[in-house]
Amino acid sequence: HENVLHNNFLGSIDQGTTSTRFIIFDGVGEPVAMHQVEFTQQYPQSGWHEHDPEEIIETVHECIEEATKKFTQMGHKVDDIKAIGITNQRETALVWDRETGKPLHNAIAWPDTRTKGLVRELKAKKGEKDLSQVTGLPLSTYPASVKLVWLLRNCPEVQKAYEEGRLCFGTVDTWIIYRLNGGKERNVHVTDSTNASRTMFMNLHTLKYDDGMLEFFEIDKNKVHLPKIVPSSCAESYGSVAYGPLKGMKIAGCLGDQSSALVGQQGFTPGSAKSTYGTGCFLLYNVGEKPVISTHGLLATVAYDFGRNRKPVYALEGSVAVAGSGVKFLMNNMGFITHSHKISDLAASVDDNGGCVFVTAFSGLFAPYWIDDAKGTIFGITQHTQRGHIARATLEATCFQTKAILDAMEKDSGHKLSEIAVDGGMSNSNICMQTQANISGIPVNRPAMRETTALGAAIAAGFAVDIWKEFSELKAINQKDRKIFEPDITPEESEKMYKKWARAVNMSKGWLD
Ligand code: G3P
Repeated sequence: HENVLHNNFLGSIDQGTTSTRFIIFDGVGEPVAMHQVEFTQQYPQSGWHEHDPEEIIETVHECIEEATKKFTQMGHKVDDIKAIGITNQRETALVWDRETGKPLHNAIAWPDTRTKGLVRELKAKKGEKDLSQVTGLPLSTYPASVKLVWLLRNCPEVQKAYEEGRLCFGTVDTWIIYRLNGGKERNVHVTDSTNASRTMFMNLHTLKYDDGMLEFFEIDKNKVHLPKIVPSSCAESYGSVAYGPLKGMKIAGCLGDQSSALVGQQGFTPGSAKSTYGTGCFLLYNVGEKPVISTHGLLATVAYDFGRNRKPVYALEGSVAVAGSGVKFLMNNMGFITHSHKISDLAASVDDNGGCVFVTAFSGLFAPYWIDDAKGTIFGITQHTQRGHIARATLEATCFQTKAILDAMEKDSGHKLSEIAVDGGMSNSNICMQTQANISGIPVNRPAMRETTALGAAIAAGFAVDIWKEFSELKAINQKDRKIFEPDITPEESEKMYKKWARAVNMSKGWLD
């Protein structure tokens, strides 16, 4: 049986905020070949964050080509790849013309805060209504909906296409699937329910577009083509690759990246959770087959939806906007380090944060605070302050927010997590993971193979093409050589640090533009 699985391969496109990867996994979840490329982050104005949709597609192609080349050079056959899955940065909004298939604007990336004013206006319009009961999301600059509204109001080309019924909207999954299928000819225009749950257009309970929400955002569904919402694991709806080395290959899985990491970490039982330290940091907690609407600043979202006779599974989510992007800021903007992985050495060059707290509110603050007008602020600087202290404070900022999220989850779910499973780039840093264990007071459990986001989409695709039928068949995947970080400071010390953080959060609010 093992041998059969070793010769069944699945491909996974992982299109994240700063880089794209294509990884080919074998049937026991081991990565066999991969390629990764970074792409351009555009910041045309303060608070704006865009991606070129064509560049995204180019990176997808390059990764597919290079990884497939490595795979065949190893003596494998492309035909042994049974299907591919897609996982992606969520909430990033794209618009294109149905007739030409061409983008009508750059993608507005999820951390972009240009919609701040618009969100204030929408909050006033909403009054006492609690939109999170329907969508799971609070009104903020984060979901894709407000980005579409901004485009409709500010870009004549987008408006015109809308009025003429040519406007297509989608998140990154939808765009990639559309283009892999060849674009306008086949016009495959779909999304999965995990991605759709981040638009604020979808009703979390029915997994269908909600007329009330579309009306609230003044979106006329007869004028804009919204992608069809389908299950995350599905052999019929996503089409197949139209060209290149994978020509004819079935696309059978699609999951927002945070959902995908939960699947990759096998968080299939209610009460299991994972935290992914990528560009941002996102903690997802499986709540089972009914959504739990947070009253403590968390989001309710679709965890995964494997279709057939399986019910969709929901999660509570704590979203932190800045994690790896804080490290990139120290590298690209401040010149503190020459490579992201050097952050650990810099942080280890000092014993502690030297009294510094860095509220990395580059996109305001997300969960559990939702403060749109917070700005990045460093407190506690003296003549003693070294780069190492700021590096430490940058890593700690993500850990403090994760602790705030864990507290909120405990209140919402009535259940205290006994450990956190982690993955993502920043989880490679031992010093960061030890800090996380210290600040949250629970063990941090890190797998040896940390491409769990890509693995999740491969699993979704594998279920659709019957490589696996039950979650229990995945049990052995990625269990070897996990590293556990146990808290090594006292709860009193930890509380003292956290109190300082909470004070700093309060003081970072209300900065004037
Ligand atoms: O919600 C945004 C998230 O999907 C981005 O993930 O890994 O690119 O930080 P990542």
